[in-house]
Amino acid sequence: HRILLLGAPGAGKGTQSKKLAEEYEVDHVTTGDALRANKDMETEFGTPRSFMEAGELVPDPVVNEIVEAALSDADGFVLDGYPRNLEQAEFLSDITDLDAVVFLDVDEEELVSRLTGRRMDPETGDIYHVEYDWPDDETIQERLVQREDDEEETVRERLRVYRENTEPVIEHFRERGDLVEVDGEASPEDVFDRITDVVET
Ligand code: AP5
Ligand code: ZN
Repeated sequence: HRILLLGAPGAGKGTQSKKLAEEYEVDHVTTGDALRANKDMETEFGTPRSFMEAGELVPDPVVNEIVEAALSDADGFVLDGYPRNLEQAEFLSDITDLDAVVFLDVDEEELVSRLTGRRMDPETGDIYHVEYDWPDDETIQERLVQREDDEEETVRERLRVYRENTEPVIEHFRERGDLVEVDGEASPEDVFDRITDVVET
């Protein structure tokens, strides 16, 4: 399986792509996680941190290199967080084919509440939510942290960047007839079933 998962910030890409990669035993490739792990890496454009904390896109050459390296030794993959603009989409089409392009559709107000309530487990990378998905284990509860770009002002900027740069990518795949749209407003389990249904048909 070579699956591309598209969607706005907070649509559930991370939640679903992690489970999909486990289900299909393929690599989980996520540019957001890769950049967070290398936030202070010096590049000719500055550090990824400076862009991410402002809610802006990290420059294409930095991100393209990460994706090319990650995909070059992957048999199959679930790709999340990339491509985010048409230039990245073109780069991707030069380095790999895709079996499925899934767009997770979620309303903007729902996106904001998902993002502002999100908490991350720094030890496992697992994603939680203060209302929708809170762990029972107190040890886990106590170590959860908020992502630096999840405060409301940065969330609004990320959504603006999404509309300006990434919606044209969704349009591009839609026009080519490659896009499968999945309603992302249901429980994580139901959304997972919807995605596996479309991937397997
Ligand atoms: P990235 O990490 O990719 O962030 P994003 O696209 O903004 O998406 P999120 O991770 O915020 O949301 P998600 O869709 O994964 O949702 P999640 O599953 O966590 O990128 C961060 C930054 O890195 C960018 O701003 C940019 O600076 C840089 N970057 C990354 N890729 C780049 C690229 N290609 N080019 C340039 N720069 C790049 O879920 C969200 C919340 O909702 C969680 O709390 C979760 O528990 C909850 N939730 C999930 N599903 C459900 C459900 N079904 N019902 C209720 N709650 C749910
Ligand atoms: Zn994510």
